[in-house]
Amino acid sequence: MRKAAMMLATGLTALTGSIDVNAKVTAPKGATIFRLDGHGFTYALGVDDKGYLQPLYWGAPLGPNDPLVPGDPAQLKAPGELSGFDPAGSVTPQEYPGQGEGLVSEPGIKTVFADGNRDLVLKYRAHRVEGDTLVVELADIRRPLTVTLRYTIDPDSGVIGRSASVHNGDTKPVRVDQIASAVFTLPVGDDYRLHYLTGRHAAEWTQKQVPVTPALTVLESRRGSTGHGNNPWFAIGRERVTSEDAGPVWYGALAWSGSFRISVGQDNLGRVRIAGGYNSYDFAWTLKPGETLDTPVFYAGYSDGGMGGASRAFHDFQMRKIIPDGVKAKLRPVLYNSWEATAFDVTEAGQAALAEKAAKIGVERFVVDDGWFGARNSDRAGLGDWTVNRTKFPNGLKPLIDKVKSLGMDFGLWVEPEMVNADSDLYRAHPDWVLAYPDRPRTEGRNQLVLNLARIDVRDHLLGVLDTLVSENDIAFLKWDYNRNWTEAGWAGVPVEDQQRVYVDYVRNLYHILAELRRRHPRLEIEACSGGGGRIDLGILEYSDQVWTSDNTDPADRLMIQDGFTQAYAPAVMMAWVTDSPNWANTRVTSLDYRFLSSMQGGLGIGANLDHWQDADFATAAKWVAAYKTIRSTVQRGRLYRIDPPVGEDATSATMSVAQDGRQGVLFQMLHSSMWRDNPAANRPQGLDPARIYRVSVLGGGALPAGVPIHASGAYWMQKGLRAPLKGDYVGIAFVFDAIT
Ligand code: DGJ
Repeated sequence: MRKAAMMLATGLTALTGSIDVNAKVTAPKGATIFRLDGHGFTYALGVDDKGYLQPLYWGAPLGPNDPLVPGDPAQLKAPGELSGFDPAGSVTPQEYPGQGEGLVSEPGIKTVFADGNRDLVLKYRAHRVEGDTLVVELADIRRPLTVTLRYTIDPDSGVIGRSASVHNGDTKPVRVDQIASAVFTLPVGDDYRLHYLTGRHAAEWTQKQVPVTPALTVLESRRGSTGHGNNPWFAIGRERVTSEDAGPVWYGALAWSGSFRISVGQDNLGRVRIAGGYNSYDFAWTLKPGETLDTPVFYAGYSDGGMGGASRAFHDFQMRKIIPDGVKAKLRPVLYNSWEATAFDVTEAGQAALAEKAAKIGVERFVVDDGWFGARNSDRAGLGDWTVNRTKFPNGLKPLIDKVKSLGMDFGLWVEPEMVNADSDLYRAHPDWVLAYPDRPRTEGRNQLVLNLARIDVRDHLLGVLDTLVSENDIAFLKWDYNRNWTEAGWAGVPVEDQQRVYVDYVRNLYHILAELRRRHPRLEIEACSGGGGRIDLGILEYSDQVWTSDNTDPADRLMIQDGFTQAYAPAVMMAWVTDSPNWANTRVTSLDYRFLSSMQGGLGIGANLDHWQDADFATAAKWVAAYKTIRSTVQRGRLYRIDPPVGEDATSATMSVAQDGRQGVLFQMLHSSMWRDNPAANRPQGLDPARIYRVSVLGGGALPAGVPIHASGAYWMQKGLRAPLKGDYVGIAFVFDAIT
């Protein structure tokens, strides 16, 4: 037991006289106050005199003996009515309220019983500790309906995972109209600011901030999947106190890849409430007698290190606890992807020629994108028919895969399993397999329909097809795409009261396929893609080695995309490609050097048409790919410091990645466009070990700026800073700090 935890346990034992004390989860038998303590935070809740479960604290760590409830903890009071307009039920702070007793803020759960009763009042029934998890059971005051809350703590990062399960112990069904994974509470305050991420196709990860007020802010997807619109992530800081580098930040993200809802606002007494879970829009789940409905996990953390500290802690948590293989995950290989080069025009000879060129510049994985299967010559046909197109690949994929492997690369393939074109053999055989309402029009998006994965036959068909594809071909990597939203989300064929389960069963079956495929093919890697970054969340990340953040491959826009993405998710999974200039998205012209410097701040890919490159381009690319491999571990799995954001008043931006062991740092300085013969201030590196001596060099070779010493301590670099005299538009440089002591 670590010292701090031991002190905590001892302190609480003294306080409670109990023996049932866990170092991280403190909820002794018979206690009415429960707390979770991890790195840099304390979370506490308690049962009041009327049996309500109340939130008590979430924030910076408290002392082990600090009074969470002043005086006698057994005296935690439920408030009484404030006025005729504010009955007791609406002013009692509740950790997970049922919709009842006049609740006017977001409920944890809203139900309708078979007799029409819509009043649900949840009170504490029992609790227990299971390892790192606190389990608290709540029960309705009259009906046999119970809600089980789970709190699992990751002591090292300060992140807790909360979820809820509702169980119908009655002999009649109960309809669940709304259910959150968790409700979080912050103390009364008028200076909270909500940070969130929004966007659209090719413009994902845009950062927004709004004040937290009684006007509820809802981050949601009604699309059936996570969507490009709002990511299921939030962070809350305090006005003028929280910055990138300092101040309190409460943050969280839902591990769910379907329609979701996170609401943030002040309740009737000014307390901040954050509720998140399944989206109640178009959702209902009729709980049969004896049935239980589980929610996804809502992860949440606290940091007093500003937005930067919060994201570093969350990245660290994701790398250890979410991403497949955790700390043992392989570094992302440098990949080549053919999409921007060839679109649907893929042939064995064309791809083989690209593979030869890719291998010459040090690419490690060659990925054939859309167009290799069925009658797929455009986006109008073929989706659903996952057999090799024999006109394009007369002898199947094997000759190309052999060629790719002989060139020293592994092979990856694009799939979009959840979709079907009406012009496909699969749809012709199973027109009833798509989401739709009988006798109603079916909206197509990109000429495709969504297969209803909630159906077990569809789930098993897709698993079988993918299993065969991966078993029969030496495929190391699948790029798993998903290119439209749901429209008419009908599920004919099940009783009406079960049809809206589609929002949950679909996603659960998607996870099942991914999990089972990975189990059967342990070396297979998967990239989550949805028209770029339309389905990135902690749910899909549990099954994905990497993600495609956006179809916008412009290197300047990409800096903003990366800045937004890393607020929430780890650079370890963030892929970026070097593509052609002018860029397809905005016709911006940039140098190959700039494109590489932008893309190599995460997982590096190349998506340019190598058939159009000159010798000089290959030489430039080979230089950068080799250089990238010397810093890849640091940028992918190190600690990220966003030193100068690409959004803002000046034209410069800078990020710094520092290896977990502090032995290497990489500072990227980018200049969007020169202004006024500018001479911007030096960037001060962060995260280096002040006591170590580092040798600084320019990534890819080149002279250091005048006056910059080759060797100096971490303290020196972090105090003095440095800047390259960048001139012109869309230029950049990376400095590498290698520890020599
Ligand atoms: C959308 C993806 O984001 C692109 O990278 C590409 O794979 C296309 N789909 C292919 O249809």
